[in-house]
Amino acid sequence: MSAKYIEIMEEMKHRLANKTLIAGSKLPSVRQLSEHFSCSKNTVIKAYEELEKEHIIYSVPKSGYYVVSELQNTTNENDVIDFLSAGPDKNVMPYVEFQHCINQAIEQYKEELFTYSDQQGLYSLRVQLTKYLQNLQVFTQPERVVIVSGSQQALHLLVSMPFPNGKNNILIEQPTYFGFLESINLQQMNTLGIELTMEGIDLDRLAYIFRNNDIKFFYIIPRFHNPLGHSYTNNEKKKIVELAEKYDVYIVEDDFLGDLDPNAKSDPLFSFDPSGRIIYIKSFSKIFLPGLRIATVVLPSIMMNNFLRYKFSSDFNSSALSQGALEIYFKSGMFNSHLKKIKEVYRTKMQILQESCDLLLPANTHFSKPTSGFYLSINLPENMTAKQLVHMLNEQHVYVDEASRMFLPEYKKENLLRLSISQVNESKIKQGIERLAHCINLMNNRKKHIARNNFLRL
Ligand SMILES: Cc1ncc(COP(=O)(O)O)c(C=O)c1O
Repeated sequence: MSAKYIEIMEEMKHRLANKTLIAGSKLPSVRQLSEHFSCSKNTVIKAYEELEKEHIIYSVPKSGYYVVSELQNTTNENDVIDFLSAGPDKNVMPYVEFQHCINQAIEQYKEELFTYSDQQGLYSLRVQLTKYLQNLQVFTQPERVVIVSGSQQALHLLVSMPFPNGKNNILIEQPTYFGFLESINLQQMNTLGIELTMEGIDLDRLAYIFRNNDIKFFYIIPRFHNPLGHSYTNNEKKKIVELAEKYDVYIVEDDFLGDLDPNAKSDPLFSFDPSGRIIYIKSFSKIFLPGLRIATVVLPSIMMNNFLRYKFSSDFNSSALSQGALEIYFKSGMFNSHLKKIKEVYRTKMQILQESCDLLLPANTHFSKPTSGFYLSINLPENMTAKQLVHMLNEQHVYVDEASRMFLPEYKKENLLRLSISQVNESKIKQGIERLAHCINLMNNRKKHIARNNFLRL
């Protein structure tokens, strides 16, 4: 009974922490939970009694169990180690400087920023962006650039619109960015997966899928992958582009963190075929201010009109105020100095995380080795579920994400953890990994104990 009742307690605490249960809420009935967890009613009662002892819930005879107070109230903010949040580090968000740019943009453009504007995006910003993209080895013209309301919008539109190759299916890395999965799920698109591990993808398999499956486009996150933290080599990227050309497949390249790459020699897929096979998307959410809802897409000329029709039907145009202010931010040179600063911040945090994982994680775990970016992923032993570990860590105020929702059902893995370094305080990284290692060791021991007991019962 022991492990199950702890699992139930952890689940209830998790619901309290994420506010699915709040002060005064009635807890699920003993019967409901015993069915849900496939355990006896006594196990549930034991879990509830333990929560009562901790003064988290109370019982009302003949009615049920109720929440006393929300768990988070008892958590000291300083105690929290946040490997979960994936927005940019709040300490390096340049919103004060940006405030000046907003004011200047209004002075300069006046009412133009407050009425409907160019569907493709302000021309003068597109000129700035084309210059900026050159640093990333993306050479193009403002006429091929569209400013979108976040890269999520571009992804959503690309999923829904027809492509010049007339093909129907979408290929994605497995795992992949959850927002993209949501878009294909909601639009009920026919989707295939290809396994991505910390060692990359099987290129022969990719050729096979391209050849046999009517693939419209391959969605790829080539650098600092979400959730894995994996990056492809130039050679691999070149081969993927060659295969795409050979089998008439488009590539949607989501280079959301490419700007952070410390390796100046690393090129985007786009640079291997700038003529139009690769649709390049650059978000400004992770490296700048996500609330602006600004990203840019470089499209082949042949797709431009259709893409703009789809965008128009979605939002007419992206916020002109955000665009005007961003243009001034670029022109003033502030963007480049901001970028220099954050490149160092994230590289350093990632290095500390790597070193801590190397030093502290048990040998039966495997983790990715990104040189920067936001994410590092950890493969737990097969018999351990990331979900259980996440609950256990929450108890210790360490927040991490488990990646099972980032898979198609047929590729699903339950033992993958995603750690984000973006908002965690640099000085707490090592302590967080100590607690993580401790919990993994506890679970390892528990499994061994259960296995030994089972053996004795044989
Ligand atoms: C890989 C990836 N692509 C795209 C996005 C969406 O970003 P945006 O804010 O530009 O819509 C995210 C957000 O987390 C992401 O992780």
